[in-house]
Amino acid sequence: MTPEQFRQYGHQLIDLIADYRQGIAERPVMAQVEPGYLKSALPDAAPQKAEPFEAILDDVNHLLMPGLSHWQHPNFFGYFPSNGTLSSVLGDFLSTGLGVLGLSWQSSPALSELEETTLDWLRQLLGLSAQWSGVIQDTASTSTLVALICARERATEYALVRGGLQAEAKPLVVYVSAHAHSSVDKAALLAGFGRDNIRLIAVDEQFAMRPEALREAIVQDLAAGNQPCAVVATTGTTATTALDPLRSIGEIAQAHGLWLHVDSAMAGSAMILPECRWMWEGIELADSVVVNAHKWLGVAFDCSIYYVRDPQHLIRVMSTNPSYLQSAVDDEVKNLRDWGIPLGRRFRALKLWFMLRSEGVEALQQRLRRDLENARWLAEQVQATAQWALLAPVQLQTLCIRHCPAGLDGEALDTHTKGWAQRLNASGDAYVTPATLDGRWMVRVSVGALPTEREHVERLWERLQQIVND
Ligand SMILES: Cc1ncc(COP(=O)(O)O)c(C=O)c1O
Repeated sequence: MTPEQFRQYGHQLIDLIADYRQGIAERPVMAQVEPGYLKSALPDAAPQKAEPFEAILDDVNHLLMPGLSHWQHPNFFGYFPSNGTLSSVLGDFLSTGLGVLGLSWQSSPALSELEETTLDWLRQLLGLSAQWSGVIQDTASTSTLVALICARERATEYALVRGGLQAEAKPLVVYVSAHAHSSVDKAALLAGFGRDNIRLIAVDEQFAMRPEALREAIVQDLAAGNQPCAVVATTGTTATTALDPLRSIGEIAQAHGLWLHVDSAMAGSAMILPECRWMWEGIELADSVVVNAHKWLGVAFDCSIYYVRDPQHLIRVMSTNPSYLQSAVDDEVKNLRDWGIPLGRRFRALKLWFMLRSEGVEALQQRLRRDLENARWLAEQVQATAQWALLAPVQLQTLCIRHCPAGLDGEALDTHTKGWAQRLNASGDAYVTPATLDGRWMVRVSVGALPTEREHVERLWERLQQIVND
């Protein structure tokens, strides 16, 4: 494709995206296709000869679009918001179009410096002190893996330069809430702690980690000759958006010299609202924190922000220094390859920068406040209506609900819950997520897609009340 052809097709593609966003409300939210539908429609091998770009776009419209569940739809209440503001989409497009890589500062100085600058802007917006430095990772899963590797290396005084974990005398232990995201468990396993050394700490009636249970678990491990290493606390758990009490947890972590990593993948976005900052009161006691700008905040996937208090430690754990990557200015600059796992780095900061500049902080705050109010409104309706139950406090924009018809409980109630959620999703009218809480099925309603206004939440509520009786 020549630059001239790119110009022509690029315009068509932008039109396609703009039309898609404009007309998205007309589409069924969840894809209405069967497994294998696309594979059977596509050729078995790549074309030998070039095809017209129009033919590719035609397949996008007719083959791919029906196979999408639409996360940017106003009636998308599934999982969590993964908002891709169009300004950030343009930033992402530019990043790919420029095709530069940040292997070192010198390999693309603007890439490194824009990342440093935008993450410092974001740090201020989140209310974090100047002691934090940030880097963009792909996902929270990677950020948490990096955190636990750093925790492991601090606790072992850099075992990686000796025999690694295999040469350690005592097992290192990680403490996580029973409601932590599965990525935390995965990170602990991948960082080499082992299933036997992950402690699931009990939660209170609001599903937040109980600090006294954490303290007891640490004391027991010490008595058993194990080495407590790290705590992962969550601000905004996946099931219920519960808020682990960071100050108490942080004080315990500090008293025992443990690394504290805070998974704020979901709720971190809300910290741009000063009135929400109480939710991570005590954050300054943490060693690392992850905030997914690619969730509610609105930066097109992927853009996970990882802040650390001790960048030198991160660099010592992650750095590589092959001769072909060295430059004369290495002592004066940040080489972001030393701040995470991959060597190659896209110009990801562009999409954050585009979004912050073209939306402005006030509009972002307004949108998040709108979503919080809409979630509160829906919570009030659920609470005020017979046979409906709200199962967890609505701290943010996620509701955990159940419809409880008289006489139904146990497995029969589970069957009813999964049934109506499935019927709703299959109808294409709205998308919600069934999940378990305390061993029983419920439905998560996550408010906060970009185009979701009060009218959509009102319609959802009407639809929920119908669908449970269908
Ligand atoms: C609390 C929490 N942590 C971690 C994750 C994983 O995020 P990612 O997909 O960026 O790895 C999620 C969301 O899926 C989450 O809600």
